[in-house]
Amino acid sequence: MTGLDRKVWLRLEAICFSRGPRRVLDDVSLSFRPAELTLLVGANGSGKTTLLKIISGLLKPDQATLEYQSRQIGWRRLRNTLLTETCYLHQNPYLFDANVFDNISYGLKVMGAPGQLLRERTDLALETTSLQHLAQRHSSELSSGERQRVAIARAWALSPRLMLMDEPLANMDQAARHQCRLLIRQLQESGMGIILTSHEGRHKGLDITREIKLADGRLTQQSPLPSGSTVVPLRPV
Ligand SMILES: Nc1ncnc2c1ncn2[C@@H]1O[C@H](COP(=O)(O)OP(=O)(O)OP(=O)(O)O)[C@@H](O)[C@H]1O
Ligand SMILES: [Mg+2]
Repeated sequence: MTGLDRKVWLRLEAICFSRGPRRVLDDVSLSFRPAELTLLVGANGSGKTTLLKIISGLLKPDQATLEYQSRQIGWRRLRNTLLTETCYLHQNPYLFDANVFDNISYGLKVMGAPGQLLRERTDLALETTSLQHLAQRHSSELSSGERQRVAIARAWALSPRLMLMDEPLANMDQAARHQCRLLIRQLQESGMGIILTSHEGRHKGLDITREIKLADGRLTQQSPLPSGSTVVPLRPV
């Protein structure tokens, strides 16, 4: 990648989070650079979704040291930044009772984007995610893989710096997984940071920057991978 600032823009140190007496995250530290693809693996209940929700500003950590663009910052200020600069994608994304175009443009509308900008940005999102052919299709008439791609397109349209994808490849057939992996690589190449959770440790066809493993709320492994080590060229199916 050239011309992109690869400096750490977000650092979360020593995150702790409990639910009642149960410690769900225990002393978890992570930092983020643009265009990184982080694979977050862990068994059911290990804390993956909880961690993503904290990073996206949706859950407040009980304790953490926070740094944004190399400056310490309090949770209240960081939370507002995280809510606009990151985007959490649910495993089973909720789509509105409307067509694909309107679903993708919804966030832009809420942000008050003027009509022409909204149309141009939505068209670009459809093009980037290869979903033009579904633009007028109603959300109730989509497969689960298509729904996931529409949700990614909707998030992409808002230009987040970091996309947090919770098990995006689950429940997808081989062709849909392939499409989704291509899309993830495109997003990464555009400079977007991505975290992807998974039960599996192996992911072909993705340029994974590092793999993080959570077990019982603790980071047990954080391995930067040699550049290109996991790249498997994708061929059209
Ligand atoms: N709303 C909640 N109330 C109480 N406990 C919760 C809640 N959400 C999650 N937990 C608990 O927090 C722990 C971590 O849950 P989390 O959803 O983060 O795990 P996960 O790694 O995403 O699991 P999965 O692979 O099943 O999605 C689990 O023990 C879970 O039971
Ligand atoms: Mg989860």
